[in-house]
Amino acid sequence: MNGSGRARFALRGRILHAVADPAEAGAAAIEDIADGLLLVENGRIVRLGPAAEIRTRLDAGVHLVDLSSRLLLPGLIDAHVHYPQTGVVAAYGRDLLDWLERHTFPAEAAFGDPERAREGARFFLDELLRNGTTAAAVYCTVHPASVDALCETALGRGMRIVTGKVMMDRGAPPELRDTAEDGYRDSVALIARWHGRGRIAYAVTPRFAVTSSDAQLEAAGRLLREHPGVFLQTHLAEQRREIATVRRLFPWARNYTEVYDRFGLLGPRSLFGHCIHLGETELERLSATASVAVLCPTSNSFLGSGLVDPVALRDPTRPVRLALATDIGGGTSYSMFQTMAELHKIVRLSGRDLAPAELFYMATLGNARALGLEEEIGSLRPGRVADLIVLDPGRRPALARRLAAGAAADTAELLLALAVLGDEQIVEATLIAGRPLYVRPESGVSVLQR
Ligand code: GUN
Ligand code: ZN
Repeated sequence: MNGSGRARFALRGRILHAVADPAEAGAAAIEDIADGLLLVENGRIVRLGPAAEIRTRLDAGVHLVDLSSRLLLPGLIDAHVHYPQTGVVAAYGRDLLDWLERHTFPAEAAFGDPERAREGARFFLDELLRNGTTAAAVYCTVHPASVDALCETALGRGMRIVTGKVMMDRGAPPELRDTAEDGYRDSVALIARWHGRGRIAYAVTPRFAVTSSDAQLEAAGRLLREHPGVFLQTHLAEQRREIATVRRLFPWARNYTEVYDRFGLLGPRSLFGHCIHLGETELERLSATASVAVLCPTSNSFLGSGLVDPVALRDPTRPVRLALATDIGGGTSYSMFQTMAELHKIVRLSGRDLAPAELFYMATLGNARALGLEEEIGSLRPGRVADLIVLDPGRRPALARRLAAGAAADTAELLLALAVLGDEQIVEATLIAGRPLYVRPESGVSVLQR
């Protein structure tokens, strides 16, 4: 390559990133540098600022890439996504449980074949990169080989991935079930093999209370206690029939959250997908334990799960930490831009208000914070890994028109336009640790060519 394969290079263009939560910092939360310059050295960001200031201080030998009218942003982060479900996006089900049984479980059964899992991992990670997503918290299947396939592929690309083997010892076809003991033992082995290797972190992954016995949830809690630093990911309060099933399966619990709470699964590294239908007591527990509610808006619309309410979740009397995710294959788009747009619409349908800057924050620095990774990803502050995306809004004429009509001049309007009118078409290049792993065919930025 080529410009950005170099140990040292600088990118010049309009640079946008969140440096704080807009709910706390207001307009100062988003840094928008009209003519900015970002210096990358050995895969990390070493300097950022207005080109006029930094350019004169650059050594003569530094390779400078002019992005002209393009935008430079931190890579987007997807906080909940199922890599074995790329083939069931847009599959019809009457509701979540019907969709799982009819389409999703059969698709996941195929990942018992390691070659199928490797092919699935390659497609999935390619798709993330094409959409400008550089980091993700990912569900595998019940098969340990599905974790190996994803981690090997991600390791080869240097991507930041949080992932784990699904634990599921009931309520699923026999070929997709483990047992409390096997699920525990396989998870221990996978943690030893993958946690902390490259940029991979392990997440203990009991699918949800519907498909795990008390004994398996207890084993999940034991895994967390015995392996400090690993994550937990699961689903919580997505649909009414799911909640009724949990009530029947765990008659001792006063609510859904208490099922996970009883087994020690709540905490600052615990990611709970959906969190739509929760009572006050549950919200208080999530807040008190600094657990994360991961919002999956396109999935919620597609599966008819309900209107998640980030404003209520964040109520200052008991704020719940939030993250944002596609939830492919319940979700309908790999694009975190489209995911931001869907959350905007859902918030509007609830009669609530969420600033455009907040959407962008959630997909970048907010998700990095939710994963405890803000020192590494989520913003363009010096010291962060150079996981970057280059956007060309001109690829979407409707977006280009909105920008020309005034949105380009206002950061908040620009961010909303990118979310609503942007998608993978505007992603020109995606860099992982300074290396361009995706470059749009026929990209005009020659220096990004591989
Ligand atoms: N709840 C349990 N498993 C799943 C899944 O695969 N997708 C969604 N959307 N919800 C779930
Ligand atoms: Zn999910």
